[in-house]
Amino acid sequence: AAVIFSGIQPTGVPHLGNYLGAIQNWVRLQHTSGPDDTLLYSIVGWHALTLPQNSRELFQAKFDTAASLLALGIDPERSILFQQSDVLNHLELSWYLTCLTPMGKLKRMTTWKGKLATVRNANSEDEVDDSMLNLGLFSYPVLQAADILAYLATHVPVGEDQMQHLELSRDLASIYNRRYSIAEYTKPFFPLPQAIYTPCPRILSLRDPTQKMSKSAPDPNSRIMLTDDAESIAKKIRSAVTDSTKGITYDPVNRPGVANLLTILDAFRPSENEFDSPSEALTALASQYANKGTGDLKKDVAEAIVEGWRRPRAEFERLRADRGYLAQILLEGSHRAESLSKLTMDRVRQHIGLSDPD
Ligand code: TYM
Repeated sequence: AAVIFSGIQPTGVPHLGNYLGAIQNWVRLQHTSGPDDTLLYSIVGWHALTLPQNSRELFQAKFDTAASLLALGIDPERSILFQQSDVLNHLELSWYLTCLTPMGKLKRMTTWKGKLATVRNANSEDEVDDSMLNLGLFSYPVLQAADILAYLATHVPVGEDQMQHLELSRDLASIYNRRYSIAEYTKPFFPLPQAIYTPCPRILSLRDPTQKMSKSAPDPNSRIMLTDDAESIAKKIRSAVTDSTKGITYDPVNRPGVANLLTILDAFRPSENEFDSPSEALTALASQYANKGTGDLKKDVAEAIVEGWRRPRAEFERLRADRGYLAQILLEGSHRAESLSKLTMDRVRQHIGLSDPD
């Protein structure tokens, strides 16, 4: 049976990239998975702490994130929805994995290299000063591997930006399996978790289509949030950066801004499954705009988002006011996650030599 695990940071409500790149698949997998498959979706507050957070806002954000996920279609009867920090097993496993992690692998993480580049630029020094960065920023991919491996997860629905982190999770699983190859197992203890991607695993910033849409980008007009109203969605899409080429074509390399809009529009249309690949579908979509311009495309994109998110947005507002219900869902989720991960941890402690193997 498959074990599906994924996580999202509680740093505000989800944006369009989170939804189209990941959450859409979380919801879909509830219907396409088998009855023996387990689905776990975690609100990962520990990951959020790698950057400074306001305590009050962080506390509120976990409820907003839970309300968003439920509003977008996560069914707490089918999926285990829980707060990472309610299950201490993740942290324990993270330490064991930390002790198996070659530093070089973490130094090669693009997120870490990106952070290093920012401090380097800020100081305009040749010498890289990593003393300005905290250890958590360096090691959080190990915690992410622990999140996944604590449930012996086999599949991880994420956006493309998580590809390298998932590779690390597989590396750490293999290193562990080799280090503690236990004779009683006919197969390796940790499965090697595979990514599951949506047709649009990388939604781009509306202000700078060379970057991904991101919660932390300084310009709020670069992203569309679940809570945005119709007017601000229309405004943000209208001002989305495209290019000066006439007409609409699907050309992700030379026209990333236009390609991004087509991708978003296509993602909100009911899928007709008549195309072999996403790019074929997008080329066909672009041809519908043969005699139209960016203005027409933008109008349709804004409408599609407003329409597609109308119900989830209303549902979010309703759920958000019901903290008691949200707390109850998260509590039940944490109990289920706790008992599943405990099974893993009991074995891990034995493998490592910290508890009696007999
Ligand atoms: P986070 O919170 O940044 O993002 C949550 C999910 O949204 C996806 N995503 C995107 N997809 C497409 N286009 C975008 N512009 C875009 N921006 C974000 C992300 O790929 C992700 O799937 N470290 C993780 C959280 C995490 C996790 C885990 C994920 C912690 N432990 C274990 C999977 C398994 C993160 O910061 O995601």
